[in-house]
Amino acid sequence: MTARPPPKRRPVRPPTDGESGQPEIETLPLPGGVGHPAVGMGLWGLGRWTTEDELRTKTTIARAVERGVRWFDTAEVYGGGRSERILGDVLARAVPAAPPFYLATKVSWEHLRPSQIRAALVNSLERLGRSSVDEYLVHAPDVRVPLAETLPALEALWKERRIGAIGVSNFGLEELEEAERHLGETRLVVNQVRYNLFDRDEAEPVQEYCRKRGILIEAYSPLARGVLAGRYLDGRPVAPEVKRFAHRLFDPDRLPEILARGRALRDLAADAGVPMASIALHWLRARGAAPVVGASRPEQIDDLLAAWAARPSDAVLERADAIARGVRA
Ligand SMILES: NC(=O)c1ccc[n+]([C@@H]2O[C@H](COP(=O)([O-])OP(=O)(O)OC[C@H]3O[C@@H](n4cnc5c(N)ncnc54)[C@H](OP(=O)(O)O)[C@@H]3O)[C@@H](O)[C@H]2O)c1
Repeated sequence: MTARPPPKRRPVRPPTDGESGQPEIETLPLPGGVGHPAVGMGLWGLGRWTTEDELRTKTTIARAVERGVRWFDTAEVYGGGRSERILGDVLARAVPAAPPFYLATKVSWEHLRPSQIRAALVNSLERLGRSSVDEYLVHAPDVRVPLAETLPALEALWKERRIGAIGVSNFGLEELEEAERHLGETRLVVNQVRYNLFDRDEAEPVQEYCRKRGILIEAYSPLARGVLAGRYLDGRPVAPEVKRFAHRLFDPDRLPEILARGRALRDLAADAGVPMASIALHWLRARGAAPVVGASRPEQIDDLLAAWAARPSDAVLERADAIARGVRA
């Protein structure tokens, strides 16, 4: 029997803006004239907040700034405020000529009463070293607090120009409809939900509604915690903090099949001559979603931008969709 020849790899040539050599990240128009970068960096940090982790996170953010990433996603709960503070520190040192950043942070599900929201925003702004944020999201709904209280409180902060736009996260259809009913002069612009090739349960039920209402879906965990960038495919163990909140991705009954599909996606990417992550990110982009990618070291920012710059064909994305759903060739 003769060995199968290795797949031919086409060279990956990312488009750049010509002058700086940086890959272009386009801006998506949102209601109210908000310009939202199409891909960004998330700063959850997976609960890793030792001094060493913080230093690495700072270097990673600095690399992202240097390489033209503008959208940074954080939250008051990430590292108990450390994520916002670190981001604020790094951005304060960014060269004045850097293009404007797009900053998004979130109010915790534990602070959704009007007086709590105002205090939470003031604290977040203090940590970020800013007088306003571009986007302020309700991190998740709390059934004990009516949205009729929360949304008008956010609108008041929007009128004071402390918030550029109001968004939500982890909202289902009914919650979205309810939230929209309680806004008067402004609208919801974003719903941030878990969305990747392996996990569509939160995004697909709200997709059509969001499209019709002009609400952008921000896709969190777009790389399925790294699996869609090739991580764990060859037996590397999954650390406990990576498994946390991964929504069954690493459950023993599911993992072998996820990894088998991941390896098939890796082969597809190799055949197409694109980085594996470009399939994950452009599959989301083709569905009108904006991925917010987690990165814990500077090289991952370089990988992210290379993946964003290499666009797989529609045929490759269709095949990837089928592989991720478990359809055999
Ligand atoms: N609204 C919400 O409720 C919510 C929930 C979750 C997340 N988020 C947001 O979404 C962001 C991203 O979420 P996520 O961290 O789950 O997303 P993800 O992008 O699916 O996974 C990020 C992880 O993938 C690994 N990775 C990244 N680039 C890689 C590469 N080139 N090669 C191999 N592995 C790579 C890294 O793992 P290692 O660090 O282990 O190297 C990184 O931490 C968060 O930071 C946060 O801003 C929001």
